[in-house]
Amino acid sequence: MSFFRLAAVVLAAGKGTRMRSDLPKVLHRIAGKPMLAHVLDGIAELGPDRTVVVAGPNMPGVAAAAQPHPVALQAEQLGTGHAVAAAREALGAITADTVLVVYGDTPLLTAQTLRSLVAARRAYDAAVVVLGMTPADPGAYGRLIVDPDGTLSAIVEAADATPEQLQIGLCNSGVMAIAGTYLWSLIDQIVPNPLKGEYYLTDIVALARAQGLNVRAVEADADELAGVNSRVDLAAAEAIFQQRLRVKAMEEGVTLSDPASIYLSADTRFGRDVVIGQNVVIGPGVSIADRVEIKPFSHIEGATIASDAIIGPFARLRPGSVLAEGVHIGNFVELKNTTMAAGAKANHLTYLGDATVGPRSNIGAGTITCNYDGFAKHRTTIGADVFVGSDTAFVAPVTIGDGAITAAGSVITEDLPANSLGLGRSRQVTKPEQATRFRENRRATAGKKA
Ligand code: UD1
Ligand code: MG
Repeated sequence: MSFFRLAAVVLAAGKGTRMRSDLPKVLHRIAGKPMLAHVLDGIAELGPDRTVVVAGPNMPGVAAAAQPHPVALQAEQLGTGHAVAAAREALGAITADTVLVVYGDTPLLTAQTLRSLVAARRAYDAAVVVLGMTPADPGAYGRLIVDPDGTLSAIVEAADATPEQLQIGLCNSGVMAIAGTYLWSLIDQIVPNPLKGEYYLTDIVALARAQGLNVRAVEADADELAGVNSRVDLAAAEAIFQQRLRVKAMEEGVTLSDPASIYLSADTRFGRDVVIGQNVVIGPGVSIADRVEIKPFSHIEGATIASDAIIGPFARLRPGSVLAEGVHIGNFVELKNTTMAAGAKANHLTYLGDATVGPRSNIGAGTITCNYDGFAKHRTTIGADVFVGSDTAFVAPVTIGDGAITAAGSVITEDLPANSLGLGRSRQVTKPEQATRFRENRRATAGKKA
């Protein structure tokens, strides 16, 4: 056995009954990313030799989210101790001095805290080190029974605790570092809990102590260790994570006009001197380059925004929106699967779907790409320096050459060559004094009725 090697087991097989959901609990998202992925990303920063995810049957989504890590099947959900046992084969012969066990429903855990837990395991040369916390409301968390000499003697689940034990503020976060040497012998000794009939991982603390082994607890920030068991917990974790993302963005040089009203995703990427106005929602897959301004009430997901672009207010960028330098997207403009080249503008009341807009082209107010014929999607390709008149409808597929102009109110069904004018509307009819005659007629009719 070599020293200072790490393995990790992530428990994700629980049914998550308290979520009242058809989706496995660990796939519920925080800041657009499944809880399980949050946990795995944190562990990955420590560079373990092997990480095994324990999933239940019929959880294909869990295996997908666990990629590239192996998934061990826990055929029946017989408790957290039983779940660790299910990882035995996938973990292989333990060559790690420390095995981390982390619950998949603890998404706010940071790599830094995991690192200090592993360091504590090694420094104490302990059989088990449990990560403890003191939450404002200890509620249903297991309580840590610490001896006067500072060692940990047991974890008592809330359901099994005496009224005195329930007074204890120090709780089990569920995260443990276990010495590789003792892992399987301890796991094998767990017997079903008399009350619930489940194999509790938490029982290894008392089992190790009964053998005279060194068991410790180290404490970390309760906010970071909140376990998500219900939708209420999920919302609380989301709020904490959003606050973290906002602080990180500001530290990276982003101005947030009203941080509490701005929602970010775990994977949002920012350049410098980005300014984000109030009430902006940024979904997954968004990258925003230097000096971009996002004005209030904009909703953005799956978009790449190059430097100096101006977005909003009230803009909606949907997946596949790719904006080059200096693009302007104004109010009530929606983009989907659309590329706008440098300096292109769509400032008012427009839908651009499955479109390409060339450099410096101007899309007039009320322009619509008719991209869907009820069966398939079609592309609209607009060249460079095109001037699209207000209220143009492009019936895709259609291609507009460089420098072309479309007349306001046109329905463009045919390709336009470069520098041509596309006019597709009926000619106006003007009848002098007809308005006067109309009003006189109406007044006379109204008078008769009275
Ligand atoms: C557990 C701890 C409790 C701790 C709390 C912290 C035990 C017995 N209790 O309680 O001391 O304070 O977490 O959040 O460990 N899982 C499986 N297979 C199973 C059962 C659970 O993989 O058979 C997984 C779940 O998917 C979940 C994790 O283990 O990710 C924890 O299970 P959960 O039911 O949430 O335990 P808690 O009641 O929260
Ligand atoms: Mg839990």
